[in-house]
Amino acid sequence: MIDVRRRSPVGVLPTTPAAALPAAGTLGRHTAGQLLRLCQVAGLGDADAAGYAQVLTTALGPVAGRPLALPAASRSFLSDDHTPVEFSLSFEPGRAPSLRVLLEPGGGAGSTARSGREGLRAVRALARRWNFSTDRLDELEDLFFPLSPRGPLALWLALELRPGGVPRVKVYLNPAASGADRSAGTVREALRRLGHPRAFDALPESDRVLFFALDLGDWDVPRVKVYTAHNELSATAAGRLSRMPGGARPAEFEAFFRTASGLDEDQDTLLDRRPVQGCHAFTEAETGLPGGFTLYVPVRDYVRHDGEALERASALLRHYGADPAQLLDSVAAVTSRRPEDGTGLIAYLALAHQTGRPPRVTVYISSEAYRVRPPAALSPRAEAAR
Ligand code: TRP
Repeated sequence: MIDVRRRSPVGVLPTTPAAALPAAGTLGRHTAGQLLRLCQVAGLGDADAAGYAQVLTTALGPVAGRPLALPAASRSFLSDDHTPVEFSLSFEPGRAPSLRVLLEPGGGAGSTARSGREGLRAVRALARRWNFSTDRLDELEDLFFPLSPRGPLALWLALELRPGGVPRVKVYLNPAASGADRSAGTVREALRRLGHPRAFDALPESDRVLFFALDLGDWDVPRVKVYTAHNELSATAAGRLSRMPGGARPAEFEAFFRTASGLDEDQDTLLDRRPVQGCHAFTEAETGLPGGFTLYVPVRDYVRHDGEALERASALLRHYGADPAQLLDSVAAVTSRRPEDGTGLIAYLALAHQTGRPPRVTVYISSEAYRVRPPAALSPRAEAAR
């Protein structure tokens, strides 16, 4: 059994003065506290950590001051319990993992239209602060921010929390903003405007295009990413999802999928609880082919509890030459509950391949500000046999 509680003395905030944080018992204090402790585990300095906690609080806006005793201000699709914040750790062999935070600016802000305005405002505020251009996002405004946007999100923001206090910024948009039936056209047009006219045709068949994402700010090679959802995906099909050239790795993605989802050797398909996602990343227009591919397995729907999810994550990290210790410390930085006492703390496990870089395993960690989903009564296998 993985006991994260013995790993580190948490519950205590690092040196950030409490006065600089939202009041105790609020969403902002809960998530900023998690972020500060995660930064400590990730080896970021106190000044960087305090700056990043401030950025999180500011981007959340008024919901940061909302008492946790009240229900979530909006039914954010960002996490299962509607906390508008999620953390992730990305592991590359031989390096300290990088810490990221995904958030919904304005905390969802009530309506999708308002949420979109809050989102754009938050991105532009960061752009002014760190002096990067939002041109690529501005060019897409009419596509993703119609007057009456639809769908479960308008804009999400992810920050890669590097040492030095300046994060790398990623923006996630909703292809179904003008209606689900127009998603494909919206994504095709967005790709074309950003200089990737052939990219859409390179994507695999899918059930839905879920997110359109772009890198902003200080990236060596900024990417445009398209996320696709795949229902009832078999292990074999998961292995063949990538359209990235040169890196034919069906066996590797298949093995990752099997371990992450807990599929037995004699099975090929999961119970259909939540779609698996693929993400193709485009960086150059010449070939129209993706330079990166990531497979996301929603591990939380295929375990009895988080202890199992952490065991799978640890096995995958070891396989890829990374040390799971920092993951366990990070879990302890986020919650004091035992992993066996809930499901969903570990939301997704992902494997990313990108041209010119070693493979990366990413673990998504929920904030659970509002609710812990109880453990499942039966293992997925036992349930399938019922
Ligand atoms: N909560 C949503 C989901 O589970 C969106 C989401 C949050 C997501 N973090 C993610 C999707 C990481 C893929 C990977 O689908």
